[in-house]
Amino acid sequence: MTDDDASAGWDAVADRFTALRSDVGTDIVLGWSRQLPRGGAVLDIGCGTGVPIGTCLAAQGFALFGIDPAPRMIDAFRRNVPEATASCEPAETSRFFGRRFDGVVAIGVLFLLPEAAQAAVIARMGRALRPGGRFLFSAPRQRCDWRDSLTGRRSQSLGETTYGDLLDAAGLALAARHRDAGANDYFDVVARPR
Ligand SMILES: C[S@@+](CC[C@H](N)C(=O)[O-])C[C@H]1O[C@@H](n2cnc3c(N)ncnc32)[C@H](O)[C@@H]1O
Repeated sequence: MTDDDASAGWDAVADRFTALRSDVGTDIVLGWSRQLPRGGAVLDIGCGTGVPIGTCLAAQGFALFGIDPAPRMIDAFRRNVPEATASCEPAETSRFFGRRFDGVVAIGVLFLLPEAAQAAVIARMGRALRPGGRFLFSAPRQRCDWRDSLTGRRSQSLGETTYGDLLDAAGLALAARHRDAGANDYFDVVARPR
């Protein structure tokens, strides 16, 4: 693990993460996806191995795009979700933001980034979502920080108030909040008409 590791330590823990990842939260993503147009384009930021989120979205018939800067994660994603379009790159510089999407998910990802990078990714997302498009991301509602148990790196939620301000500046609005069986919080966001 070095400072130039674009995956912030995730490539090195890919096998352990795969063994530990449960289905918790899949029901939230599935319910959220029912708001999207049939066959719409969906971007999964920090897609990991694609299990369980990518496989669930692909099974619903969406045109799925996955990005992850960890080579081992994206290799597994390509095997697990062969119908998706995948790229090994971080959200901060992803070329996929040049496309337009009906939905974007970022599960267990945004809070891994430094605060300025989180703000930049939210702004890029605002430009990539079609009007009425939806964005679902997980993060604690309160501003807080902690050490990730697998990578040992710092994670930080900016909290609902700051996320709300960043979303607003990006042309996005908080539509709903959800909590999964593991007590993880989700922000369900809609792109305002331009
Ligand atoms: C906790 S895992 C979540 C994986 C997947 N979203 C899931 O729900 O199973 C975090 C993922 O974010 C990826 N990641 C780390 N830094 C990232 C960045 N700057 N941009 C996009 N993804 C990143 C990691 O490689 C890892 O696969």
